[in-house]
Amino acid sequence: MNDYEHEWELETLGIRIGHRRTPEGEHSEPIFATSSFVFHNAAEAAARFAGDVEGNIYSRFTNPTVRAFEERLAAMEGGESCVATASGMSAILATCMGLLEQGDHIVSSRSIFGSTTMLFNKYLKRFGIDTDYADLSNPADWERRITPKTRMLFVETPSNPLIELGDIRALADLAHAKGCLLVVDNCFCTPALQRPLELGADIVIHSATKYLDGQGRAVGGAVVGDRKRVGEDVFGVLRTAGPTMSPFSAWIFLKGLETLSLRMQAHSDNARRLAEWLVGQPDVVRVHYPGLIDHPQHLLCEMQQKSPGGIVSFEVARGREQAWQVIDATRMLSITANLGDAKSTITHPATTTHGRLSVEEREAAGISEGLLRVAVGLEAIADIRHDLGRGLQGP
Ligand SMILES: Cc1ncc(COP(=O)(O)O)c(C=O)c1O
Repeated sequence: MNDYEHEWELETLGIRIGHRRTPEGEHSEPIFATSSFVFHNAAEAAARFAGDVEGNIYSRFTNPTVRAFEERLAAMEGGESCVATASGMSAILATCMGLLEQGDHIVSSRSIFGSTTMLFNKYLKRFGIDTDYADLSNPADWERRITPKTRMLFVETPSNPLIELGDIRALADLAHAKGCLLVVDNCFCTPALQRPLELGADIVIHSATKYLDGQGRAVGGAVVGDRKRVGEDVFGVLRTAGPTMSPFSAWIFLKGLETLSLRMQAHSDNARRLAEWLVGQPDVVRVHYPGLIDHPQHLLCEMQQKSPGGIVSFEVARGREQAWQVIDATRMLSITANLGDAKSTITHPATTTHGRLSVEEREAAGISEGLLRVAVGLEAIADIRHDLGRGLQGP
């Protein structure tokens, strides 16, 4: 663990951890906009390069602003180490490069972010790492797909866009019984709503681009876990290959973490109220939100997450035509696939994020032509409902 007062609550950690004030006495964290650092003499340079003395060398290795973000997020996730990356995807890539080798096998949940599937199926495959896919909510399916070569179980929970949940504790037990690691992409919940390491996961991945920033300003990512795997093995990949976070981005994410708990609760409260309203709309045939009592994993959500989160999906009766009508009738919601922003966004998964899948693949994944996903922002709920209501009330 890092040397901080870990009894602090999450809200305090998000505001107070990681900033070592400089002699200037600044109150807000400074941005160290420097590519390299100066040594007092040749012996100090040699000692730092040899790793005998801790300290900054070069910003591809480490930078004080980035370090502050890493320490803050590690504390919030309850991990020993965190490394910040240039994007969420480079966090996943660096984790695989740092912890796997040729001939290893991954079992992943099926409904994961499209670029993650591409990374596994196209690029890791080229280097002799194969991936098999299991049903997120069916532990027997995971067990069946594990082979003697499996080294990593990878799960994104809740899933996108159907907001299904995987049981992190059960998957961690399974992974450890089979000698594997459990890696959880915690992008949708953030540590404010779900702490996978406490539930037994080994590694947590983030796309900081989403809720950690919260205002759509920067692209970044992070890997959190133990000192050996993350602080040495994953860090080694980043130090060598270089997809590290810039100090400017780290500063934005530091500021984002200060309000994360408050924002996540507000996103979740708005999403719950939107989901409840959608259930009563005549044109809406189904609402996917784990906060609703009839969601198949409502109880798991209550046990595993502090609250159900900010993403709601729903299906309209008249397929694509009506789904597009709802989107085109909005005047406030942003038509974009991004999520985790103070601004609410709306997406038609079948023709955007999942448009590259075949019709059969989409049907198997449960993504209908009438499905819409709303990443519920922080505007007044009455205004969000009003904007969505326009398209639901007919052409
Ligand atoms: C669940 C999830 N993981 C990872 C990523 C990739 O993150 P980034 O876009 O920061 O590379 C995304 C991006 O949307 C995502 O939704």
